[in-house]
Amino acid sequence: MAKNVVVIGAQWGDEGKGKIVDWLAEQTGGVVRFQGGHNAGHTLVVNGKKTVLRLIPSGILHETLDCFIGSGVVVSPEALLGEIDELNAAGVKNVEGRLKIAPTCPMILPYHIALDQAREASRGSGKIGTTGRGIGPAYEDKVARRSIRIGDLADIDRISDKLKANIDLYNVQLQHLHGTEPVRFDDVMAKIRSFKDRILPMVADVSRTLYEKGQRGERLLFEGAQGTLLDIDYGTYPFVTSSNCLAGAASAGAGVPPQMLDYVLGIVKAYTTRVGSGPFPTELFDDIGAGLAQRGNEFGSVTGRARRCGWFDAAALKRAIQINGISGMCITKLDVMDGIEEIKIGVGYTLADGSTTDILPFGSEAVAGCTPIYETLPGWSESTVGIKSFDALPENAKAYLKRIEEVCGAPIAIVSTGPDRTETILLQHPFN
Ligand code: GDP
Ligand code: IMO
Ligand code: MG
Repeated sequence: MAKNVVVIGAQWGDEGKGKIVDWLAEQTGGVVRFQGGHNAGHTLVVNGKKTVLRLIPSGILHETLDCFIGSGVVVSPEALLGEIDELNAAGVKNVEGRLKIAPTCPMILPYHIALDQAREASRGSGKIGTTGRGIGPAYEDKVARRSIRIGDLADIDRISDKLKANIDLYNVQLQHLHGTEPVRFDDVMAKIRSFKDRILPMVADVSRTLYEKGQRGERLLFEGAQGTLLDIDYGTYPFVTSSNCLAGAASAGAGVPPQMLDYVLGIVKAYTTRVGSGPFPTELFDDIGAGLAQRGNEFGSVTGRARRCGWFDAAALKRAIQINGISGMCITKLDVMDGIEEIKIGVGYTLADGSTTDILPFGSEAVAGCTPIYETLPGWSESTVGIKSFDALPENAKAYLKRIEEVCGAPIAIVSTGPDRTETILLQHPFN
């Protein structure tokens, strides 16, 4: 049997998963998204050319590679077709022919987006800071057993009945709870009719196709979106997304047996960032934080919002390693740490009652009560931009990476020193 790899974000998202999935994809028979939706934003850079993906797996730039959207993903057909059009315009070959979508994916429709945005507006300063893409309401419908799913597109009459009931329900909330405009049945139905014929040919039994690829000895890459600390169960709830973003979710979300998941690659930024609201113990509010944001170009690829920046939090990473069973880490954006005189690593927390802990607790209230305990390491003044071998890194950069390994208890398999596919140091290949 071939070895399969699950890639997950080990922090609050935007760790650089897309770059690494694109880099690893070459070796595989397919890349599979298994959760989230177009709240994700992944930037790939190949030969200086930038591509931003939201819903389409980050293997799509490899010209003959199959890409899959598993049942755990909430799919906005409009967003998906827009992304396909962008890729077609950029000259990426046969995107529609290579993309397969599970019929069981819940659809994101205009009323999900309207409710997500109306709720955020009503929450005022208590808002979650969602991406406003309808992700939360779409997952709510799935659990409430009223989703209109991708496979339903084959039967417009069935959709019509479900849609009437859903729109009645949503309009009560939109008009009476939030005082916003109702959504019109005819408008949503017209939209569904407009995209159905382009979506249906991409619908396939993803679960079975992946299983058969595995049987044939093809390697598979499972691509997580968001990050462990945004996980609906184990993240900083309620300031989280609405899906499980853990490695364990790859099995249910792609529809494959757990025995098919062999190696978990945790993508870890060399510092920490977060978009939206919620506690962030090692957040920096000084010039060092501003420098990380500026050098790291820390602006969200979906919403353009500034990302909050802070020191590396090894105690939070310890949680991610424990809960995902991370086999190896990929440390990204090491180059952004160049030129900082003294670097801090959060190694634990003092809690409100004065006790200490070495691992991030669950939920926003507990995390808000965590004051980081720091270790200080010397920084480096040399540039690490684009370095491709570990030996060529400055001694203090090597020591920083070694200390991260020691404190967190997982080995580093890959280091990334720039956004381009080639700006990568390989220490231990996840597929070997
Ligand atoms: P994802 O959501 O985890 O795929 O990450 P994003 O693509 O949203 O954010 C990561 C950003 O950092 C993107 O703009 C990447 O091009 C960029 N990036 C990835 N790896 C590196 C790196 O090693 N160094 C630098 N400077 N930028 C990187
Ligand atoms: P990638 O895959 C960073 C955050 C939002 C918000 C919270 C809930 O690019 O790493 P949602 O719209 O999901 O209901 O918003 O989750 N969030 C992300 N932050 N990277 C992402 O994806 C994110 N997807 C959602 O900012 O705080
Ligand atoms: Mg992102």
